[in-house]
Amino acid sequence: MATIISPSILSADFANLERDIKLVEEAGADWLHIDVMDGHFVPNITIGIPVVKAIKKVASVPLDVHLMIENPEKYVEAFKNAGADIITFHYEAADDVLSVINLIKSLGIKAGLSIKPSTSPEEIFEYLPYLDLVLIMTVEPGFGGQEFIHECTQKIPAIRQEAPDNLIIQVDGGINNITGHICTSLGANALVAGNYIYAHKDIKQAVKSLR
Ligand code: DX5
Ligand code: ZN
Repeated sequence: MATIISPSILSADFANLERDIKLVEEAGADWLHIDVMDGHFVPNITIGIPVVKAIKKVASVPLDVHLMIENPEKYVEAFKNAGADIITFHYEAADDVLSVINLIKSLGIKAGLSIKPSTSPEEIFEYLPYLDLVLIMTVEPGFGGQEFIHECTQKIPAIRQEAPDNLIIQVDGGINNITGHICTSLGANALVAGNYIYAHKDIKQAVKSLR
């Protein structure tokens, strides 16, 4: 499986979002990673539904929406209508995980489940057959530009071993050319990177170095 590169626009210039989306698309981005935070599940507030809708008008690659919000079931349909192609929510934020997965899939888009650094992979094994994607956080969710937590990489082979062949395993947080390669060598096949890509002086080179 080729590695899917999903630049996080959290590190883009929000006053020049269209320009910064084009920059990563031209550099070969496969998806665009959009971090939605509600100030409750995580201590930060970022992008909401109207912004996703605006991004959809200018983006040409699939929108990979990472919901770091409580009660994800309440907002899934609105994010799909705004243009999300993949919706990932947090295991720790949902009361009925399987019903949220089924809701996302009933809308005809890909369903992802994410776990925070403190959540063990075994807790989500039962959901793997129903998922398109698992997102392993390699930082505490909430902010871009944090340092990669190496211990989280053990979860990659643990999930890969239990998962159906076509499950996408994505990692997010502190990903660069070095940490990204560690993750792909362990079985991850989708990389999110914000600061590494947008702070790089050569964005094309940054995307290429992640592959
Ligand atoms: C953190 C977000 C990440 C973040 C990654 O809560 O989920 O997607 O933007 O940023 P970097 O790559 O800078 O760690
Ligand atoms: Zn994210």
